[in-house]
Amino acid sequence: MTRETTPLLSIHIPGLKLYNRGKVRDIYEVNDALLIIATDRISAFDVVLPNGIPYKGNVLTGLSEFWFKYTTDITGNHLITTQIERMNSTSVLKHKDILQGRSMLAKKVKVFPVEFVIRGYLAGSGWKEYQQAQSICGIKLPPGLKESDKLPEPIFTPSTKATTGHDENIPFSRVVELIGKKYAEELKEKSIRVYLKASEYARSKGIIICDTKFEWGVTNDNKTILVDEALTPDSSRFWPLESYKPGRSQVSYDKQFIRDYLETIHWDKKPPAPILPPDIIQKTSEKYLNAYKTLTGKNLV
Ligand SMILES: Nc1ncnc2c1ncn2[C@@H]1O[C@H](COP(=O)(O)OP(=O)(O)OP(=O)(O)O)[C@@H](O)[C@H]1O
Ligand SMILES: [Mg+2]
Repeated sequence: MTRETTPLLSIHIPGLKLYNRGKVRDIYEVNDALLIIATDRISAFDVVLPNGIPYKGNVLTGLSEFWFKYTTDITGNHLITTQIERMNSTSVLKHKDILQGRSMLAKKVKVFPVEFVIRGYLAGSGWKEYQQAQSICGIKLPPGLKESDKLPEPIFTPSTKATTGHDENIPFSRVVELIGKKYAEELKEKSIRVYLKASEYARSKGIIICDTKFEWGVTNDNKTILVDEALTPDSSRFWPLESYKPGRSQVSYDKQFIRDYLETIHWDKKPPAPILPPDIIQKTSEKYLNAYKTLTGKNLV
C-alpha cells in the first residue's frame, strides 16, 4: 500500500535559526514567524524511538491544517501557510523537496504552560483514576462506567507541560493559578467546543475521538489562538467506530500499537529505546495514513 520511503529523522536548514527541537518537531525562525517541521520521529512513554515512521510528519501536518481550517468559526489558530512558496524564505525554498507537506509556517506566540486535555470517553490514565476514585482530575463521574464508555459530557482534565519527564494531571484550580481565571475559563470552554465539533465530524467518518490534547497561545495583541498540532493521532486517541465496544480497551489509529509492542518486549521505558522491527514500522505508517484518508477523504501518497 505505501511506497518505500526513508523517514525524516531530523533536518538542518542552513541560514535559519533553530528555535526548538521537540520530540517530534524541528522548529526554525523565519522572519517573525516559526517554521514548524513535523519530522517522522515517534515517541513512546516520552522517549523518542530510534526509528522514524514513514509519512508520519506529513500526516500530522496535513491533519492539523485540516482541523485548524475546520474550526475557524470557534477559534483563530497559528497557521499562516503550509505552502513553501508562500513562506517568503529562500532558505526554506531550497529544501522544498523535504519540507513540502510536513511544514507549517505559524505565528510565533507565547504558549500557555498547560496541556488542555479533553476526554469524551474513559481510557488510559483516566480509566485508571476512575477505577480508584470514581473521578478524573477531581471531576466526579457517575458510578458503574466501563472501560472505553462514553462520558455523559466531555470533560476538561488539564495537565502541566513538563519540560522534562512526564506530564502531570492538575486540577482546574491549578490552571487558574498558572494562567489566570479569565484565560482558564475561556480556553477550557473553547477546547471543549473544538473537541465537540471535530468529534462529531470524525464520527460521521467512522472515527471516535476518545480524547485529545490542545495547546493555546496568546498573541501580542492579547488574542488567544490554538497552536501546536490539532487533533492528530499523536495528540489524540482515535478509535474505529466499527469495532468500538465498551468494557475493554480499543484498537486505535495511533501509536498505541507501538506501545503494545514495546510492552511485549518488556523494555524498561528508559532511554535508549529499542529498535523497532520493520513490520511494526510499516503497520504504524499505514495506521497514520489511514487516519488521514478516513478523516480528509484524500490520499496522502
Ligand atoms: N505557535 C507557536 N508558538 C510558539 N511555540 C509553539 C507554537 N506552536 C507550538 N509550539 C511549541 O513547539 C513545540 C512543538 O514541538 P514538539 O511537539 O516536537 O514538542 P514536544 O516534545 O511535544 O514538546 P514539549 O517541548 O512541549 O515537551 C512545543 O513545545 C509547543 O508548545
Ligand atoms: Mg508536542
